[in-house]
Amino acid sequence: MKELIMATNNAHKLEEVRQILGSAFTVKSLNDIGCTEDIPETADTLEGNALQKALYIHEHYGVDCFADDTGLEVDALNGAPGVYSARFGAMNGYGESHDADANIQCLLDKLKEAETRKARFRTVIALVQGGKEMLFEGIVEGKILQQRVGNEGFGYDPIFAPVEANGLAFAQMSAEAKNAISHRGRATKKLAEYLCQYNK
Ligand code: IMP
Repeated sequence: MKELIMATNNAHKLEEVRQILGSAFTVKSLNDIGCTEDIPETADTLEGNALQKALYIHEHYGVDCFADDTGLEVDALNGAPGVYSARFGAMNGYGESHDADANIQCLLDKLKEAETRKARFRTVIALVQGGKEMLFEGIVEGKILQQRVGNEGFGYDPIFAPVEANGLAFAQMSAEAKNAISHRGRATKKLAEYLCQYNK
């Protein structure tokens, strides 16, 4: 069985990727290879960050690897918070980095007068395998709701309603229903298609 490292320790992401890749690949986490250091994520694009993380693991641990980066792109904010989605609240004086509640409050406040609430989640996965670098993109279009709804998911899920879900927010959907249409699910499916073809 082929082995690949995913540059994350996020159990939710690992589970999602393992489900989509199926039994053809063993996907290991950073913990599994003994990597405990903070991996640099200093690029100003999703592509740059994903590649930076995958290359770091490849260079330091000598393994084939993939890494992802995700951003929420809001039209009324010219694509912000984008690559800064995890830090959006903190960058604007709302709590700590990675605080989902602060991020959401910051976004709702910034959109109070907005004429459009159109937005999209975009995930980029970078794969470094067999000396080659590849990028895979997944997008889900939707809109930012006026207030939080639902209890499922994480991050911006309570205020993001994908076009395909008839007004429901990601936080009102089961994990399976979300994965079927989500940005990360779509990017992961492209990765899986490539891996299955390339590794025949
Ligand atoms: P990361 O690249 O997966 O670490 O995500 C960057 C930021 O986007 C974090 O603030 C996450 O909470 C948010 N984010 C990523 N994926 C999702 C999602 O599926 N739903 C809601 N928020 C997300």
